[in-house]
Amino acid sequence: MQNNRLDYAGQNSIIPHSRPTLGQAEANAARDVVLSGFVGQGERTHIFENALGGFTERRFARVINSGTSALTLALRALDIQPHDEIILPAFVCRAVLNATLAVQAKPVLADIETSDLTLSVDSAQSKISNRTRLVIAPHMFGASAALDKFAALGIPLLEDAASSLGASFQNKPLGSFTRVSTLSFASTKIITTGQGGAILTNDALIAERLAQLGDYDSVARNARVAYNVQFSDIQAAIGSVQLARLPEFLAARHAIASAYARALTDVPGVKIPRARENAIHSYYRFVLQIPQDSARIVEKLRRAGIDARATAAHFLYDYLGDSPNAFPHCEQIRNHLVSLPIYPTLTDTQIEYIATTTRRALLQRMTPTQNIYAITN
Ligand SMILES: Cc1ncc(COP(=O)(O)O)c(C=O)c1O
Repeated sequence: MQNNRLDYAGQNSIIPHSRPTLGQAEANAARDVVLSGFVGQGERTHIFENALGGFTERRFARVINSGTSALTLALRALDIQPHDEIILPAFVCRAVLNATLAVQAKPVLADIETSDLTLSVDSAQSKISNRTRLVIAPHMFGASAALDKFAALGIPLLEDAASSLGASFQNKPLGSFTRVSTLSFASTKIITTGQGGAILTNDALIAERLAQLGDYDSVARNARVAYNVQFSDIQAAIGSVQLARLPEFLAARHAIASAYARALTDVPGVKIPRARENAIHSYYRFVLQIPQDSARIVEKLRRAGIDARATAAHFLYDYLGDSPNAFPHCEQIRNHLVSLPIYPTLTDTQIEYIATTTRRALLQRMTPTQNIYAITN
């Protein structure tokens, strides 16, 4: 037995942090495509795109090989030029920075809100210069960015909805608000096609530019750069099954989030992830903010057989050399996040175990003055 493999409820394995929900229906769909003899990007991809466009209330949904490619081509389709400035949150998946650098734009980092870890409108506003072309606002871990406040500022915005398929704000799907928005179908995401992503828009000009950017083997005689970032009908067949199951996935994620919230809501100093007013969370991640050092709690949970994580994103100033002092909210939460496993295949026993073990770990870690419950066993 490896030392991180602990006995939990009769199983010699740790509860993983993430796990895709894939079953016989997805296997059958993939098998049918394999046996059809056509595995490239074809009719099944169009069917998946149409379903995705319908679900997200978008005229055009273009699927692509990853969420990172979706962001990169979205920036190209928006005609972002080298040295244009793009405002990004300082705490987010590195893909957002990679896409910005891939188009040679200048990343300008802004701080986050400690309430829900989304991009701070005030901080983003303070970073606007006459070179600013765009603000990328990810719906952090499934929590809607402040779309109404950004809209009121009149700043061009791109929703990164990689974590938020199925979530909403003001009864509209996340991913449907900005001129262009992006999704990811990587293996841990709300729905998965193994790898994959999508670009969503209502704008025919953007859709046309995307078609050109993806037309890498064109006979047209011009020297523009195009990319082979195609999807495959195998992925599309899996994606169509996953999309049909999305309501079931979201209901399961909400039930797990409620169970965790019930167990942890009265633990002093702990902030439970919640959607902003008029929004529905996807609960892609359940990231607690805790008063203790998260590394110690994570270690404790791992020893109890739960693969919790101290963070599920990156502090981008670590890569760019900006001073951490410029991002006080990021620094405030930096060592105080715990991401718990949350995905539909968790069993009721596992959910209960994670909830009670986390509660106990958090109460035990507190100093006597903080720990009003004083659990000692
Ligand atoms: C917010 C965000 N944007 C973009 C991406 C990139 O997606 P992909 O991994 O499909 O390239 C991720 C992925 O983890 C993400 O969390």
